[in-house]
Amino acid sequence: MKPVIVVHGGAGRIFKEREDGSRSGVIRAALKGYSILKQGGTALDAVEEAVILMEDDPHFNAGCGSVLNEKGEVEMDAIIMDGKNLASGAVSAVKCISNPIKLARLVMEKTDHMLLTDQGASAFAKAMGIPEVPGEKLITERSLERWKKNLEADWNPQECQKDLGTVGAVAIDSAGNVACATSTGGLTNKRLGRVGDTACIGSGGYADNSVGATSTTGHGESIMKVILARLTLYYMEQGKTPGEAADAALDCMKTRVGGLGGIIVISSSGEWAAKFSTNQMSWAVVKDDQLQSGIYTGERITQSIEAAFASIGS
Ligand code: GLY
Repeated sequence: MKPVIVVHGGAGRIFKEREDGSRSGVIRAALKGYSILKQGGTALDAVEEAVILMEDDPHFNAGCGSVLNEKGEVEMDAIIMDGKNLASGAVSAVKCISNPIKLARLVMEKTDHMLLTDQGASAFAKAMGIPEVPGEKLITERSLERWKKNLEADWNPQECQKDLGTVGAVAIDSAGNVACATSTGGLTNKRLGRVGDTACIGSGGYADNSVGATSTTGHGESIMKVILARLTLYYMEQGKTPGEAADAALDCMKTRVGGLGGIIVISSSGEWAAKFSTNQMSWAVVKDDQLQSGIYTGERITQSIEAAFASIGS
């Protein structure tokens, strides 16, 4: 099987000043994941490493750069899933760690559970030797500004809900195994303890070698109502291509619950799609040593991976 990786940096509104960073961030993550796949690495390692890069990149709403909850703190959700055996691990409402996706993988591999939350997740991180970082280290000037705006009496909270920016990756490796990983800071000004779709299996992501893998982004409460990731794979099981399935799932979410978002998909035969019902979603894919990427509807920039490496300066 030829390896393929698809990544997204979140569906929603990408402000002009963040566009370049968002483009180069998804390209860097896709190239990182692809290099792992090309060296014979697993889809699971590729999606984890791609997501770690985006968690460490302040342009995205995950890890450092996460939006803030009503108390002005970062609380993050993440999920990872292995399509070979349907193993999955997730964390929710976790604070003071740099890479929630690493903790999600440890939940999958080192516990009999699938989801650890809040203080239990923090205690597990400590037990696994994951360093605690001061909460402020994950807070960027921008997320602080957005949060402060939310406190202004005349601010329309719907505005912030357009700035989503969850990150995710799906991949297929040379052994034909698929995997997904998704990570987010959630919604600006969310209630303390609010858990979104990202940590919920079937909503924020799903991977099954028999059909493919998906990672989703968008309004979590809407995504959960239609179980967006699994719904997309269901449509593929019914015979739709990845692109048709993602469009149908997004259409269902829009018409049934009025929600907007985005989906990336890889099928068990290596077909891929990156679709969104919001105005923008940053995405990148590497297949056959070619990189494609975009942000706007209908935009698809194709580059060799050498040119792509040069464009991000590495
Ligand atoms: N999709 C991210 C969230 O709503 O938390």
